Amino acid sequence: MLNFIVNQTTCTRCGECAADCPARIISMKEGFPVIAPEKEASCYRCQHCLTICPTAAVSILGRNPDDSRLLAGNYPDPNQVETLIKGRRSVRRYKPENLEPELIQRLLDVAWHAPTGKNCRDVLFTVVDDREKLARLRDEVMGGLAELSRAEKLPAGMEFYADFVRMWEEKRVDILFRGAPHLLITSAPRHCASPEQDGLIALSYFELFAQSLGVGTVWNGLTTWAIDVVLPETRQRLGIPADHVIGYAMSFGRPALCYHRTVQHGSAHINRVG
Ligand SMILES: Cc1cc2nc3c(=O)[nH]c(=O)nc-3n(C[C@H](O)[C@H](O)[C@H](O)COP(=O)(O)O)c2cc1C
Repeated sequence: MLNFIVNQTTCTRCGECAADCPARIISMKEGFPVIAPEKEASCYRCQHCLTICPTAAVSILGRNPDDSRLLAGNYPDPNQVETLIKGRRSVRRYKPENLEPELIQRLLDVAWHAPTGKNCRDVLFTVVDDREKLARLRDEVMGGLAELSRAEKLPAGMEFYADFVRMWEEKRVDILFRGAPHLLITSAPRHCASPEQDGLIALSYFELFAQSLGVGTVWNGLTTWAIDVVLPETRQRLGIPADHVIGYAMSFGRPALCYHRTVQHGSAHINRVG
């Protein structure tokens, strides 16, 4: 039940909602947009109709258009967005403190708005929101890797984990989680159109918004493989459903450092098609 409601007093009959509907299920009847009951099942639930209406006359899925933030006048300056993207860095030194729970919640709520294939919207955020919990997870993962390493049972091509375990055991240098207080792992059900990509895109959004708020992040391939491939039982321990495909892991927290300028990567590789 889509609950597609049009306020006929404020609707200007411009037809933009019908023209923009990706499923093409909105038709104009007596000048007003309608969705025929037999077409409701084809709705992507993308809310394009609600967001494109210039007069906030369209409601769908029980959403009040007046609860949306207006876009006009609220977009950041493009130069600032460029600075954010070029100034983003992988942070590998963190303050030993938790982020405020409200801040973590805000980061996740914004990342939740990332696009997903066919608007599947089924990405799961598995979060370690407390540094003590992450310390316990690190001990478990390092312990599991150490056991495999001693038994010479690390998977082929992943013997490098032995060095990281040694660095942890001998020097307390944490190459896996980078000493961050928090960890985020994205995953999505295998049946989604693009479960891995959905998880990766959500993390990209999370990372940029986090860094705009002074929160450091680092993509964490070593943790992803350790959890997903080398010690898959960790997935269950973390509550990641068995039918989920992992997007990636990302460590995050308050940086114990400050970058002062953007990176200079030179020109992009571009293949212009003639
Ligand atoms: C998919 C992916 C996996 C990564 N895995 C790790 C990792 O396991 N550990 C780590 O310290 N950095 C990791 N990184 C960070 C890269 O090394 C980093 O992005 C690159 O060196 C450029 O630095 P910058 O992110 O500060 O611009 C990863 C980055 C990506 C995109």
